[in-house]
Amino acid sequence: MSEIKINLAPRGSKAAGEIHVKRVGSGPALMLVHGFPFSSGMWWNQVDGLADRFDLVIPDLRGFGQSSDLESGWEIRDFADDLARATQFLKIESLIYCGLSLGGYVGFELLSKYPELISKIVLCNTRASIDDQATARGRRLMAERVRREGTGFVKPTMLPRLLAKPNAGKVRVTGLDGLFEGLRAESIAQTQIAMANRRNFAPLLHSIDLPVTLIAGEGDAITPVTEMSGMAAGIEGAELHVVSNAGHLTPIENPEEFNQVLNGLS
Ligand code: MLT
Repeated sequence: MSEIKINLAPRGSKAAGEIHVKRVGSGPALMLVHGFPFSSGMWWNQVDGLADRFDLVIPDLRGFGQSSDLESGWEIRDFADDLARATQFLKIESLIYCGLSLGGYVGFELLSKYPELISKIVLCNTRASIDDQATARGRRLMAERVRREGTGFVKPTMLPRLLAKPNAGKVRVTGLDGLFEGLRAESIAQTQIAMANRRNFAPLLHSIDLPVTLIAGEGDAITPVTEMSGMAAGIEGAELHVVSNAGHLTPIENPEEFNQVLNGLS
């Protein structure tokens, strides 16, 4: 596996930064973009299961993993700009994009601004619509709390909602502790605010004209199957796969079924 550090020049009001990308395997380029508040480390089952078939490009979004810090005023589209520049640096002209939850929000921005870069998109455990008022308020409260108290409460607060009920607290899902290592308070705060302010892509779904695969977890309490099937209904030709025995973390909770979907992409 190559570990690549990419320096990003300043753009507009955004300062220079550094983004860390793992690259492994051979075949068509497949970018795997993590959820919140994780990092490239969440895809270990895909490194094992997909590198024979794909050139895996696995970034840490800015503010997470080994990438540099986020700055204030950060928006979801800024993550997409970073990824577009990273692919330029890596000389990748076209890729299959796969994003989970926050990674899906970033995928919509990337598709909107850099459509030529994406040949297919896989949206996992995510939504196109924006938050209701209570959710957006909860994000702002979390941003205030993490700035005040630090990151200690994040794992105990988030973990119970991430997993499908039968998995919660069981050893079957391994590696979860590592997911919450190295969290940065300011990244969490800035990203929550960015997610609360994200663009609504629900009205634009009908205009997506590339192959779309949607992956839902049958027990996902955060982005329920009904949300994902509503999204599938809005995108012409979209394929929806509902992964069994999985909640919000489909690639971790049921890697076999998750990888089968990706390995089956034509
Ligand atoms: C994620 O997994 O990225 C989060 O659930 C995204 C969100 O909070 O909307």
